[in-house]
Amino acid sequence: MIWLEGKEQIDSVKAMMREMTEPITAILVGAGDRGADTYGEYALQHPDLIKFIAIAEPQKKRREKFVNKHQIPARNVFESWEPLLDKEKIADVAIITTQDKMHYEPTKRALKLGYDVLLEKPMSTTLEECKSLADISDEEDRILQICHVQRYAPFYSSIKSLIDSGKIGKVVNISLRENISSFHYAHSFIRGHWHNRENSSPMILAKSCHDMDILYWLVNQKALKISSFGSQKFFGRENMPEGAPDFCLRGCPIEDSCLYNSKRIYLDIIPLLHIGAKSSRGMERFIIKTVLKFPQLANLPMFKRVKNFTEWPVSTITNDFTREGILKALSETNYGKCVYKIDDHNVVDHQVVNIEFEDKTTTSFTMHGFSDEEGRTIRIDGTKGTIIGEHLASGDRVVHIDHLTDRRSNVWKSGRLVGHGGGDDGLMKAFLENIESESKQNVLTNARAALESHLMAFAADIARLENRVVELEEMR
Ligand SMILES: NC(=O)c1ccc[n+]([C@@H]2O[C@H](COP(=O)([O-])OP(=O)(O)OC[C@H]3O[C@@H](n4cnc5c(N)ncnc54)[C@H](O)[C@@H]3O)[C@@H](O)[C@H]2O)c1
Repeated sequence: MIWLEGKEQIDSVKAMMREMTEPITAILVGAGDRGADTYGEYALQHPDLIKFIAIAEPQKKRREKFVNKHQIPARNVFESWEPLLDKEKIADVAIITTQDKMHYEPTKRALKLGYDVLLEKPMSTTLEECKSLADISDEEDRILQICHVQRYAPFYSSIKSLIDSGKIGKVVNISLRENISSFHYAHSFIRGHWHNRENSSPMILAKSCHDMDILYWLVNQKALKISSFGSQKFFGRENMPEGAPDFCLRGCPIEDSCLYNSKRIYLDIIPLLHIGAKSSRGMERFIIKTVLKFPQLANLPMFKRVKNFTEWPVSTITNDFTREGILKALSETNYGKCVYKIDDHNVVDHQVVNIEFEDKTTTSFTMHGFSDEEGRTIRIDGTKGTIIGEHLASGDRVVHIDHLTDRRSNVWKSGRLVGHGGGDDGLMKAFLENIESESKQNVLTNARAALESHLMAFAADIARLENRVVELEEMR
């Protein structure tokens, strides 16, 4: 009881302190999946920490939804980033979540206005622009934090702490796999924003700059040499089923057996149900398994959320979540098209990258878009121990094996964590703490650090395209 009273007092002091400190104010450039649904939602859940006070977003529905949810005053609502950043600085920070090719200009302008910036990855789609942003943030003495969310996920931070503790000795080799599930690859990299490298960025930059960053962070050395192979092996007209129409909904002869059937992905959300069926939460697992077995039960009120699913990836394809709205998107946009007939799809569907670091550590990385379950797996061999990790959509596991005693111990274990395995929340928390403490030193994924992962990604792309080993020094 005494403890409870003490705890109540501490809680009320904390609440008073929160009331006394104003939340950090933010402007948002781009209210899409990341801007509105990730960082916007974080602000709504933590009103004492951050408040959006201005927005630039060209899509009317997205803009209005954000304005209503965050109560943005009319004078601070813009259809594009330019007029917002033509004004004097009006908030503490800028959060920039436009598409890959639209990162450079608004970030440069925001830094020059004196904003500290949280910028989505990739920093930019050319190495010159990435370098330039790191330089500008130094010149302006501003925080430029890049959304390499993986570093903030407990899965990777537990691995990093274990390496730093010295328990596995010196790291000698790491092998990391990024297993992208078939439906996610189809959604983002065949039908979606990142299917064409000229309009967005190469796959190794768009998706795997996170993995380059993790390798750089864990090895704690700069990369020296890189080789890489990969291609688009499967998705093309040569593998198209006979008689396939342009859109799945127009009577495809293999609709019941096609993994990529748009109705299966966006209306029946079968791939998401498969992930949920492995959930560590008993009730969630029960509901989802029941719906998978008896789809007609999805109409019952207790299963409502399964039926009226409005989150990613459905949120990417439409703003109208009625059955009619989703069917319309599947009839008119790329998201309903046959995956074998999207002729400007030119990003790789599998790639391997080998890296030698300055201290002679070697790493191998594999990315592919044909996995059953979304997730990453990692094996780290050191001179005294081994770490084996699984970072999957259904949950995490990190095991440490000591070579001398052969003892295996669980380092980290968790059920499904939302938002990049907890990385999204961790990133926002760290960003706001950095702003509060006005400390550039503590920014884990600052622009300088992120520049290394981007360099590695650009080098891997060149190595693959030019079929040669790339020395990183030639690009620094
Ligand atoms: N950190 C991660 O793990 C992670 C995950 C997914 C995506 N991303 C990155 O986040 C970024 C955004 O991705 P997304 O999925 O949210 O994309 P999105 O297309 O859903 O959002 C981008 C938004 O920017 C808006 N926009 C376009 N032109 C604009 C302008 N002139 N001014 C202001 N806004 C404008 C678009 O209308 C759209 O709403 C991309 O660079 C992507 O690569 C990062």
